[in-house]
Amino acid sequence: MSHNLFRILFVCLGNICRSPTAEGVFRDTAARIAPRLQLEIDSAGTADYHIGSAPDPRSQRAALERGIDISGLRARQVGAEDFLRFDLMLAMDRSNLRTLQAMSPPNARAELHLFLSYAPQLRRLEVPDPYDGDAADFAEVLDLTAAASLALIESLQQRAQ
Ligand code: 4NP
Repeated sequence: MSHNLFRILFVCLGNICRSPTAEGVFRDTAARIAPRLQLEIDSAGTADYHIGSAPDPRSQRAALERGIDISGLRARQVGAEDFLRFDLMLAMDRSNLRTLQAMSPPNARAELHLFLSYAPQLRRLEVPDPYDGDAADFAEVLDLTAAASLALIESLQQRAQ
């Protein structure tokens, strides 16, 4: 990754809670604090349950409380071509990461990481699945993705030097 355009895919299970939140938060943070970084940002799910769906209304609400509108996003499933197109595929939990590792072709371009690995100060590596949780669980997804987004941007700025 010695270039200045970074293609980043956020990945969770359903692509209706965590990864669209990460996509929206990261896009918002990058636009505010690193407008010169060239980024292509997307999200996808490892499962096909919710293809075509808008983000979960609870995720939309939690994001909107921070001024971030993710209502226009639509869920899609991770495909083989994603491993050739993206530089970074960032999983929300270890299960998502294992699925990506099993799918990754030998000629993959993408590095696979846990998103929270960029923010060791959080002392946790997984964004918990909020699907069966309450509003506090959805708010926690915003907190974790916001902290990891800042750390990821710092990492990309160093790589782009
Ligand atoms: P996400 O959350 O992976 O953060 O989008 C989930 C959404 C849907 C389901 C599980 C997790 N589901 O089982 O339908």
